[in-house]
Amino acid sequence: MTDNLHVIVLAAGKGTRMYSEQPKVLHRLAGRRLLDYVLDSAKALSPEPVTIVVGHGAGRIQDAYKGTPGLQFVVQEPQLGTGHALLQTEPLLRSATGTALLLYGDVPLLSTPTLKRLVRQHQSEGAAATVLTAQVERPYGYGRIVRTGGRIARIVEERDAAPAERGIKEVNAGIYAFDLAPLFDAIKSIASRNAQGEYYLPDLIGIYRRRKLAVSTLTVENPREIRGINSRSELAEVGAIVRQMKNEELMAAGVTLIDPATTYVQQDVVVGRDTVIHPNVYLEGRTVIGEACEIHAGSRLVDATVGSRVTIRNYCIVTESAIADEAVIGPFAHLRPGSDVKTAAHVGNFVELKKTTLGARSKASHLTYLGDATIGEDVNIGAGTITCNYDGKTKKPTVIEDGAFVGSDSALVAPVTIGKGAYVAAGSTIVNDVPSESLGIARGRQENKEGWVKRRQNK
Ligand code: UD1
Ligand code: CA
Repeated sequence: MTDNLHVIVLAAGKGTRMYSEQPKVLHRLAGRRLLDYVLDSAKALSPEPVTIVVGHGAGRIQDAYKGTPGLQFVVQEPQLGTGHALLQTEPLLRSATGTALLLYGDVPLLSTPTLKRLVRQHQSEGAAATVLTAQVERPYGYGRIVRTGGRIARIVEERDAAPAERGIKEVNAGIYAFDLAPLFDAIKSIASRNAQGEYYLPDLIGIYRRRKLAVSTLTVENPREIRGINSRSELAEVGAIVRQMKNEELMAAGVTLIDPATTYVQQDVVVGRDTVIHPNVYLEGRTVIGEACEIHAGSRLVDATVGSRVTIRNYCIVTESAIADEAVIGPFAHLRPGSDVKTAAHVGNFVELKKTTLGARSKASHLTYLGDATIGEDVNIGAGTITCNYDGKTKKPTVIEDGAFVGSDSALVAPVTIGKGAYVAAGSTIVNDVPSESLGIARGRQENKEGWVKRRQNK
């Protein structure tokens, strides 16, 4: 079926209704660009390169996809409408035969099975064009499918529709399969006599019907799939649909979401069964979470790898870091990139880690900064411990070996090593290595002046 299938994506429009500096198709929906969605479903269908028509913000779109295989770009300049956009691909496809599948870059939810069904029906009926349509409750903004005697006669845009036509609830999805043979010649007869003065691709349908070319339609079962995005408010609405779909998938796989409406899980995130996710949690990027974890309200994990039976208490931020089984994090902890918290370790409140390994069963429970540090097993890091890892020019490492005990409010000036089983006395500023099994103490000695208060009062 994918023989001679050429996928074309239109992405040149200004996106006027977004009021944005950024091209519309680069706006993010649940973390991914609009165009990512369209390209994913396109690539599942076609081994041929996907042709993308760009125009407004062309450079930014091409930069965003630099190095992505299987794409070729055509520039539409100026942007005179969707019909004019498709015409720009003629030099690339002039000698091609077979089927062109046309997708709009701002219609992200179309599923691969729907597109396959469209192409299959188009090819088996031998149609010149097949239009994907949907029955929707609120047709506002979409082109309406005008039928005569049950067959599609033409498509009329919202702005050009007569009042009676506006009442039609069958709309144009903006997705079509075309036989390439008559396509480009016919596009040239599209006129721009309409409310926007643009060359509308949907006008091709009326032209085909007048020329007695076979035009077919396929109506999607789930109208959600054809949602187009023209404004920020539609971006939010469709974003909510995407999140809901992901959340349903997670719950079906055995994940508890206390409140799906406020759970924000991006597409590629994986969560193991019996994990409980509380409200207002954000799981982003390539985050993977094991089984039977509990992620409390307000936490955000980006590209995090979390084992099983891990507890992440309220309001933690974890980025590009790993957390092993049974570890406990937070509340209010910050794991910056390169942190590696081993099995059953504890990172407590107001603790920040950066490029730091915290060994198995080790604890940093309160008010601590650990940066560029390698910390062994069964280590206790006292409240307020700081690794002074930065001398203003470079970052220096700190090593704390197994079983060491760092007293509260210590400053460890890197590069420095605290040996195995060593102690650091509270309030020390450690600038030299502390040998294993030793006590490092670096602070002013305490002097008590007995009777001082009485003497002062008597003065
Ligand atoms: C379009 C259809 C409408 C359909 C709806 C489905 C037209 C005239 N109307 O309306 O029938 O119901 O989509 O979502 O096609 N583009 C270009 N070059 C241009 C103009 C647009 O590449 O010169 C691209 C845009 O980047 C966008 C797509 O074509 O990805 C659709 O353009 P848009 O202006 O959003 O069309 P709609 O008004 O939504
Ligand atoms: Ca649109």
